Amino acid sequence: MLRRNGHSSSLSPVRPVVDRADDLPAGWEKAEEACCPPRNRDVARHLISLTAVVGARPNFVKMAPILEEAGRRSAFQCRLIHTGQHYSPEMSAMFFDELGMPAPDVNLEIGSGSHTEQTAGVMLRLEMELNERRPDLVLVVGDVNSTMAAALVASKLGIPVAHVEAGLRSFDRRMPEETNRLVTDVVSDYLFASEPSGVTNLLAEGIPKEKIFLVGNVMIDTLMKFRDKAAHTGVLDRLGLKSKDYAVATLHRPSNVDGMEHLASLLDMLRELSRRMPVVFPVHPRTRERMRAAGLTEHGLILTEPLGYLEFLRLTSEARLVLTDSGGIQEETTILQVPCLTMRENTERPITIEQGTNRLVGTDPKEILKAALDTLDAPPRFLTPPKFWDGHASARILDVLERSIGDRVNGIRRVSAQD
Ligand code: UD1
Repeated sequence: MLRRNGHSSSLSPVRPVVDRADDLPAGWEKAEEACCPPRNRDVARHLISLTAVVGARPNFVKMAPILEEAGRRSAFQCRLIHTGQHYSPEMSAMFFDELGMPAPDVNLEIGSGSHTEQTAGVMLRLEMELNERRPDLVLVVGDVNSTMAAALVASKLGIPVAHVEAGLRSFDRRMPEETNRLVTDVVSDYLFASEPSGVTNLLAEGIPKEKIFLVGNVMIDTLMKFRDKAAHTGVLDRLGLKSKDYAVATLHRPSNVDGMEHLASLLDMLRELSRRMPVVFPVHPRTRERMRAAGLTEHGLILTEPLGYLEFLRLTSEARLVLTDSGGIQEETTILQVPCLTMRENTERPITIEQGTNRLVGTDPKEILKAALDTLDAPPRFLTPPKFWDGHASARILDVLERSIGDRVNGIRRVSAQD
């Protein structure tokens, strides 16, 4: 069942936008004069209809700045679809509120299920929506099941697809996200890379270079916008923590939490670390479920429900150390200059190691603990931030789309010096 909300589908006001005069039919001036201020009376232009699709928590953080930037530009008319992959208030609604995102125009209410159920469910429901609207572009972000499903449907319907965070590769097909990344990229028409490795990987896979744009990191757009606001959340007081005197841990990858023994040994390791300093562990619903099923105790750690964006940003900003298996947190800690230990065998975000504070420590609890204690004694040096992780990635994306799709829907052909 599709759920639609009542508000207007457009994020930016629908009004005639004008550009150059030479494409207009004779007699346009009088009609334009009636509705447009003289300085804009050049050419009536079609708005670019953009359907943005989000599904899971990290998607919201990435899409928020893009929608905000599109709303500032008169060239775009946006529609937001939530697949409903994440649905708990603290995994979804809280993020919409805090990030100031418009309520979705449609919620596909797909919910939890196997990967096939989620992917197929999104595809079937989204197909109806896209068939009805036929947008000029479908925009997807990240690497979750909803990302891949939306890109596939749009591609099958012949609707151009833009993928933000294209080209990241862990080269580990056991990760469901790796399949999602590969499939999404191969059907996308605009591939927006957050770091140079993304460009290199796409070129190596034979994606034409004209489709690839290095634009920087939209997650960092959001971080920069909300960092000051996050400082007022009071989360440290609430949890009884002192700045730079605690560690934060997150765990949610199936490879770390789905095996009971492995999860238990990781929790033991965190408890051991907590003898040195408090360890805060906001628990993802998937991990909570596994802990409950295995009867694992929580003693010694500061456990919380999944936190909202602002509280979590504050918590990581002030941490002395972060241990995680998340992708986005590797990037955020790079900019926050907080040491990050990634509890995985690989990362699709190598720049966070080359230029950031991230270190891959594998999944052996003994090795992780050793790395954590070493890092506390000798924290990594911070290098220069990655190129374009500067708060303006969304603007770069919309510049590309406005020019390229805007020209297409308005029938404009630009002539280069070589033509
Ligand atoms: C998904 C993404 C992962 C991303 C993560 C961020 C895929 C394959 N995985 O993993 O890449 O890093 O989101 O959180 O798309 N649940 C709730 N409430 C919710 C959502 C989930 O209770 O709002 C529970 C359900 O029991 C569900 C489980 O969490 O079965 C896993 O959710 P799911 O969306 O399948 O995958 P994530 O582990 O969240």
